[in-house]
Amino acid sequence: MEIGLKSILIGKGCFTMISCIVYSSGTGSCEKYAGLLSAALHVPAKTLKNAYVRPSGEVLYIGWLMNGKIQGLEAAKAKFNVTGVVQVGMAPVDHADAEAKGREKNQVPETVAYFCRQGAFDMAKLNPVFKAIMAIINKKTVKSLEGKANMTAQEQAVYNMAKYGKGDPAEWKIDDIVAWAKGPDALVSENKMF
Ligand SMILES: Cc1cc2nc3c(=O)[nH]c(=O)nc-3n(C[C@H](O)[C@H](O)[C@H](O)COP(=O)(O)O)c2cc1C
Repeated sequence: MEIGLKSILIGKGCFTMISCIVYSSGTGSCEKYAGLLSAALHVPAKTLKNAYVRPSGEVLYIGWLMNGKIQGLEAAKAKFNVTGVVQVGMAPVDHADAEAKGREKNQVPETVAYFCRQGAFDMAKLNPVFKAIMAIINKKTVKSLEGKANMTAQEQAVYNMAKYGKGDPAEWKIDDIVAWAKGPDALVSENKMF
């Protein structure tokens, strides 16, 4: 049986389609996703300010949502070869049009991978302007979900965040992002070796 070096490296998790994870985080959620992905993929995670990536290097960018816009994405696109994007917001994204809406608002074409994730919320970590904005938005969110039967896990999570001013997402899911970053070769390689 012939096993190439690339297959061995993929199997050991040492080869991915991206050379760096770049993120912007206000209160820690994007940083947490970046850390989880960095550990799973053995790829460095750097803040947008501190990242240096070789010119040909492909970047997965993770940014938090403000009014539907991914913070830092435009700067990341200008600086790096962004081939994957993760939007992180407190709202539920377990519905069919979440990706299409996110892509449209943030002008991310189909050639770039796109992932929608729920992040955490912590009012205490926000500046006074953001606190004031979110106090209004959170009231509306609580009102819209109050008494709703059969809330999804993500709806329950955002309800808690909005009602109590702090909370975690329904889950910190990265498996599909990891699979994308390892690329199609990974499946072949993993089947061959393990
Ligand atoms: C001013 C402001 C606006 C926000 N707008 C949105 C939004 O449009 N959609 C959303 O899902 N979450 C929104 N959020 C919630 C954050 O995106 C969410 O808490 C995210 O997990 C923060 O990521 P971070 O901890 O990496 O900063 C907003 C938060 C703030 C403070």
